[in-house]
Amino acid sequence: MMDFKGQDILDGAHFSRAQIDHVLESAEGMRKSLIDVKQLELMKGFILATLFFEPSTRTRLSFETAMYRLGGETIGFASESTTSVQKGETLGDTIRTVEQYADLIVIRHPMIGSARVAAEVAAIPVINGGDGDGQHPTQALLDLFTIRGERGKIDGLTIAICGDLKHGRTVHAGVELYKHYDCRLLFISPESLKLPQETISGLNDRGIDFEETTKLNDALEQADVLYMTRIQKERFENPEEYERLKDSYILSRDMVEKIQPTVTILHPLPRLNEINVNVDDIPGAAYFRQVKNGVYVRMALIALVMGKV
Ligand code: NCD
Repeated sequence: MMDFKGQDILDGAHFSRAQIDHVLESAEGMRKSLIDVKQLELMKGFILATLFFEPSTRTRLSFETAMYRLGGETIGFASESTTSVQKGETLGDTIRTVEQYADLIVIRHPMIGSARVAAEVAAIPVINGGDGDGQHPTQALLDLFTIRGERGKIDGLTIAICGDLKHGRTVHAGVELYKHYDCRLLFISPESLKLPQETISGLNDRGIDFEETTKLNDALEQADVLYMTRIQKERFENPEEYERLKDSYILSRDMVEKIQPTVTILHPLPRLNEINVNVDDIPGAAYFRQVKNGVYVRMALIALVMGKV
């Protein structure tokens, strides 16, 4: 189903290969359309609401930037501390209120399944900007857009994904998308932060070529793309467990140059110490280009669900 108009974007698993490719094509169109002008008129008069109940820099600012570039306007909040949620208002009532103002909602919330709850309440489209340790589909789409831009393709690549695979919602969404491509997936994590069992079962069911390991160096040797992620401190019940695992993987310039100098390095950001800053000016370090791509992909998604492209 190619028609995105009026649809919610909640989960990477909702996308077919044709839909993913369509989003990536539309995003490329957005990139090109901004070469000569700063702002389009596609979404003139429309309002996007950004409801962020959890910290964010890129997801919120890139959605806002995307809406401005499309000619639309934004309303929203970056913390629930200034909203009526503080007075005890439910998520449902907050959503019913916001949909009286806006044409489209982006929500980030610490509870897994929260975006789905919002979508069930709202008559307008809802985009999941991250629900706890669940899904983050727009980040995963911009990750694929970046891989395609950096490597010229997605099929045929070996993609190594390293870090907190248990809690990382960008990874959970990404795995759902990679399933549609002819990729080899290498998952690197400490034993206790492996991908959830149901994700692994899903990969097995589809006959995807993947491996799980604890060793970054071995995986790096085989990788075309290395996707590093942060150990997700806020998802740990036991702070000592976080302390024990937080320095599990630290990518250095030396490692890249010795093991796989042409690897493309991605990170959804924020980065803590898992990529040393001395990696940043290696040609394959693409994580800030990836940030920019977020704007094009989110422009495409907004325009698609609003039925404007
Ligand atoms: C990620 C997130 O919020 O899940 N950040 C992002 O949206 N780019 C990754 C993270 O917080 O580690």
